[in-house]
Amino acid sequence: MGKSYYISTFGCQMNVHESEKLAGLLSVRGYFEALSPEKADVIVFNTCCIRETAETRIAGRLGNLKRIKEENPRVILAVCGCMTQKKGGAEALIKRFPYIDIIFGTHNLTQFGAYLDAYEGKKTVEIWEKETPGEEDGTAVKRAGTVNAWVNIMYGCNNFCSYCIVPYVRGRERSRKKADILADMRGLLDEGYKEITLLGQNVNSYGEPGGFSGLLADAAALSGTFKLKFMTSHPKDLTEDVVRVMAMSDKLAAHIHLPVQSGSDRVLSLMNRKYTGKKYLETIDMIRKYLPNAGLSSDVMVGFPTETEADFLDTVRLVETVRFSNLFTFIYSRRSGTPAADMAQIPYKVKQERIARLIARQKEIGPALAGEAVGRVFTVLCEEIHGGVARGKTQCEREMTFPADGVKPGDFVRVRALRHKNTGLIGELV
Ligand code: SAH
Ligand code: SF4
Ligand code: F3S
Repeated sequence: MGKSYYISTFGCQMNVHESEKLAGLLSVRGYFEALSPEKADVIVFNTCCIRETAETRIAGRLGNLKRIKEENPRVILAVCGCMTQKKGGAEALIKRFPYIDIIFGTHNLTQFGAYLDAYEGKKTVEIWEKETPGEEDGTAVKRAGTVNAWVNIMYGCNNFCSYCIVPYVRGRERSRKKADILADMRGLLDEGYKEITLLGQNVNSYGEPGGFSGLLADAAALSGTFKLKFMTSHPKDLTEDVVRVMAMSDKLAAHIHLPVQSGSDRVLSLMNRKYTGKKYLETIDMIRKYLPNAGLSSDVMVGFPTETEADFLDTVRLVETVRFSNLFTFIYSRRSGTPAADMAQIPYKVKQERIARLIARQKEIGPALAGEAVGRVFTVLCEEIHGGVARGKTQCEREMTFPADGVKPGDFVRVRALRHKNTGLIGELV
């Protein structure tokens, strides 16, 4: 019997994909995936520190591992990801959870296999301060999905939004070579993947010749029937040429996730976002000029330091003006080491009350938009089937469920929306 692993992933798509690389490293060494941490020989926690709530949840789960470690002292506990890369993060984890065996950071992810091979019962703690360009190229990947696959186009972030920890834990921006990205995509399409999502913290600043629009155009020109998506875009960098490429190829999902964060120019400036509410709305108009039915989603934060009721109402107004099909709402969380941590903080009660009002407003907008889609026919990529019900997404990234009759995951089908449930559609094959 070979050895087994169990990976718990927290945080964004970047981490979800990096866990596939960790699984790849383990598979190459003959490990298979365990169904539960209790059954595993190696447990890996791939962590996130974007908000305090994430760290609290992870700490709770790490606490639970103590029992597993007591029952099976031979199990190896490894912790990696953004929480370990954070300044002082690894030390804090060891102090609080002394039974962790291996700790590594975001910059030495691919070294995990070597740490495991060399592990002889002595705690291994290794965090690299600097990123190594090209480090993750060519690593084995064990993908969780059969229809959707992630492909990194860049790593890191240079934007330093004043609230955000990501630039500190992911290092400076570095773009992968276009030829490597296209070769990865070609391989995935040949394997039968039908949806590819290009990943980066700010894909619009893709730095290789031709820029992001050039990469998108070349990626969409690959032969085969597939759906191409990307995330995340920064409003300051999303240019018309990118949207033009999206409008020209029906392989590209007609959807943009464009985090606005706030509708107040004063707050946006303090956030170091480098656009105004007006500029953001102009970008939305530009997108709709090329893609009138584009799905739009966004991230919004409430309770940024010094946010007044008037600032908050500017955010609500922007959300009402754009009418996002999906909105991810967050309460600002103070991240030490970031500039916003030193600004005047807002009481938690005020933040809670504001987010409740914002969510209530979006709960009217989202389903109303879904209602407007009822009666229309959409191209849907079937992602999975459970109990005879197929689930997939439209080209504008709206959830659709429909009777699976003869459909397989990975099929593109035409579906008429019959009704909606919240923001999702329920339809029938046409
Ligand atoms: N690179 C992406 C994703 C960043 S993290 C981007 O720029 O959009 C995803 C979201 O988490 C952000 O858009 C922001 O809304 C939220 N976020 C980041 N830092 C936060 C903090 N300190 N408190 C609360 N939310 C935060
Ligand atoms: Fe964070 Fe801003 Fe970079 Fe996004 S663009 S990862 S919010 S610093
Ligand atoms: Fe979290 Fe790191 Fe992603 S902090 S959101 S896992 S880049």
